[in-house]
Amino acid sequence: MGSVKVKNLIKKYDDVVALNNVNINIEEGEFFALLGPSGCGKTTTMRCIAGFEDPSSGEILIGNNVVNNITANKRNCGMVFQSYALFPHYNVFENVAYSLTVRELYQGGPATKLKSFARLMSKRLAKPSKTIEQKVMDALSYVELDKYVERGVNELSGGQQQRVALARALVMEPSVLLMDEPLSNLDKKLRNSMRTTIRRIQQEVGITTIFVTHDQEEAMSMADRVAVMKDGEVVQIATPTELYSNPQTPFVADFVGSSNIFEGQIKESTKEGSVVNIGDVILKSNIKLDKKDVKVMIRPESIELSSNGKIKDGENVLKGKVKISTYLGAQIRYDVMVGNHEIMIDQTFEPGTPVLPPGADVKLKIDPERVLLI
Ligand SMILES: Nc1ncnc2c1ncn2[C@@H]1O[C@H](COP(=O)(O)OP(=O)(O)O)[C@@H](O)[C@H]1O
Ligand SMILES: [Mg+2]
Repeated sequence: MGSVKVKNLIKKYDDVVALNNVNINIEEGEFFALLGPSGCGKTTTMRCIAGFEDPSSGEILIGNNVVNNITANKRNCGMVFQSYALFPHYNVFENVAYSLTVRELYQGGPATKLKSFARLMSKRLAKPSKTIEQKVMDALSYVELDKYVERGVNELSGGQQQRVALARALVMEPSVLLMDEPLSNLDKKLRNSMRTTIRRIQQEVGITTIFVTHDQEEAMSMADRVAVMKDGEVVQIATPTELYSNPQTPFVADFVGSSNIFEGQIKESTKEGSVVNIGDVILKSNIKLDKKDVKVMIRPESIELSSNGKIKDGENVLKGKVKISTYLGAQIRYDVMVGNHEIMIDQTFEPGTPVLPPGADVKLKIDPERVLLI
């Protein structure tokens, strides 16, 4: 059983509160991401699950069992780290076969004295049992490295090394796979292809996976659900699409994608929603809230922009002036001043249409459905 429950988890290092009452339920077979900025407690959460840290209080369950008092090596968690942590003097096959071989050696009690351990290991790794050979080759074919068995790990690319690390974790048939920023050392292109590889393998094996990252794109593109963390707390747990379209705090709205966020006041409740003031700007939103002071959030791509009269005056139409325009390939990011508010707008770039220069007069239009209030 590979479900994971984290209940009221608190972890303190002296007076540093690293985790402040974290609650997470991960279902069997789920790909679950822990997402948040550096220092928010992602690694600490993972280390508590794996058994490398003792919680100050709270419970960890794997399957139906409370594992707080079970040592790391008996929790059956596979780990993959940012730094690969491969054995440099062993080849690909030996790296993946290592733990299985140790386990085989120690079956039925301590098999040997420490002194002869290394010699015994080399012998076993050179002539593995049929079972181990089969398991290692299966794991290596999952990560598409079965043609590289005899290659030294230092002769592999970063992406290949990380795939060896993944095979080494999978070969132990863990009930949970824990990955801590596994793609951070790779360049962008490789990172993107590794995302697909990891997701494919996770689905094929069906293994419960917890994936730690500070990269929102990574979390959003890979995970079934994402927990966004901040300052040792979980701020929101949701599917990627829910998280993007319905962020529950300004922090989530800004961390997951980017967002215009303004302080506003609800001036009037209407049948459809609310009318809000942001300073002297008035906007309609389809959201009703039972309070006056609100945060108004508008995604940059939710705003229509035109300089040529395509947008007629009316509801939720604002007049502004381009302050900065940034050409980003598929998109143009405009920073537009509306009164004294600066608003970010992302517009899809259409070849042939000019990028508007700073100073250009523009009109903006925002669908009331895209004006989020919290
Ligand atoms: N061994 C430790 N001793 C003291 N403080 C620690 C230790 N490990 C982590 N912390 C602190 O706990 C907080 C969370 O750290 P961590 O879980 O590593 O964050 P993340 O992985 O999200 O970057 C940070 O403030 C960090 O400085
Ligand atoms: Mg970390």
